[in-house]
Amino acid sequence: MSLSPESRVGEIAARHPLATRVFARHGIDFCCGGGVALADACAKREIDPAGVLQEIEREITSPGADLATRNWQEAPLGDLVVHIVERYHDPLREELPRLEAMARRVFRVHGDKDPERLGALLESFLRLKSELDEHLHEEEESLFPSLLLAAAGQPSQVASFVDDHTRVGQELHRIRELTDDFRVPAEACNTWNALWHGLAALETDLHEHIHLENNVLFPRAAAA
Ligand SMILES: [Fe+2]
Ligand SMILES: [Fe+2]
Repeated sequence: MSLSPESRVGEIAARHPLATRVFARHGIDFCCGGGVALADACAKREIDPAGVLQEIEREITSPGADLATRNWQEAPLGDLVVHIVERYHDPLREELPRLEAMARRVFRVHGDKDPERLGALLESFLRLKSELDEHLHEEEESLFPSLLLAAAGQPSQVASFVDDHTRVGQELHRIRELTDDFRVPAEACNTWNALWHGLAALETDLHEHIHLENNVLFPRAAAA
């Protein structure tokens, strides 16, 4: 596929997984905001789409690019599901409680320095966590087995998971705003610093994770 500013962000990410590195660098949402054209996504971030296209070309034509990522458009669907669970779900179950403990600690110890922001951040994180706890469980217990068994999932069932993803994306966006794009404040202690880095990594992983579900797994299962 030739890439242009009119190409949709989610489609670029699905066909060229390494392009997601470029999107992550520029804060372009390729999972829940995947339906928009690259030009519109760039306008939102106030960056030049031509420059972004050049960076994508460099990533996808770099030596070893083919080996760096498996082509999930073609791998067996069962392998993709196992990959999603092992690479994203299992680590989330460890990471979310760790981040919760840090967010509570930072609020408890430093809440007086910036009460509104740190309080809103803790609330936002807890909403995200409870949404994800239930979501991961339902995907593994209900959605993924039915996608694999029936090949074509119930469209309405998939739609409610896509809605969850949209809410997760909105919460991540709020967290990015509340952390000032994950810029660590000068007065931050070690836990505060680790929390900001942990939240940035959480965003990157969730964007990749949701992208694989919204733009690869669900369309492939619907077409099977
Ligand atoms: Fe998932
Ligand atoms: Fe999901």
